[in-house]
Amino acid sequence: MTFVVIILSYLVGCFPSGLVLGKLFYKKDIRQFGSGNLGATNTFRVLGKKAGFLVMFLDIFKGFIVVFFPLWFNVDIPSIFIGICAVIGHVFPIFLKFKGGKAVATSAGVILAVHPLLLITLAFIFFIILYLTKYVSLSSILASVCCVIGAIFIGDLTFFIVSVVIMIILLVRHQSNIVRIFKGNEPKIKWM
Ligand code: G3P
Repeated sequence: MTFVVIILSYLVGCFPSGLVLGKLFYKKDIRQFGSGNLGATNTFRVLGKKAGFLVMFLDIFKGFIVVFFPLWFNVDIPSIFIGICAVIGHVFPIFLKFKGGKAVATSAGVILAVHPLLLITLAFIFFIILYLTKYVSLSSILASVCCVIGAIFIGDLTFFIVSVVIMIILLVRHQSNIVRIFKGNEPKIKWM
């Protein structure tokens, strides 16, 4: 059963909400526009606020819901590990030749389910950095670094390891954003 729950969580993470929403309601493949990413930021950029918020909600929900799978399926495995399976599914979806999103919203969903207070703190930090810099990518990266710091304060080794894994995934998936920030051509949000 443990294996089934792991695969199920991975498959939930694989659901490309930005792509499905874009193709279904806007007849647009968001991978062809903006940053080419499947996530909420590029959905905001390409399809607008309504679609952006919906994709953000769906991607957060993917990470949030799987954390409860061990409880529902009566499986003895730390929920946070099941959460990571959804994040991996989001980043490496089997249906899209393993080319998925950048892990931000789905990871947020996992943290929301496990440590809601930490997620609220991270969201606060995220929006302060976003307000100051207007870079979603930089705000996401720095929030993931703060998550590791938060995990140290919480003192839970499993959560610390998962936070480090999430931070590494985010750093790797944001390589192009980091290069653009240094070159000065990373797009800034206009609505804040
Ligand atoms: O949602 C991921 C965000 O941090 C960056 O997205 O589209 O600007 O590469 P994007």
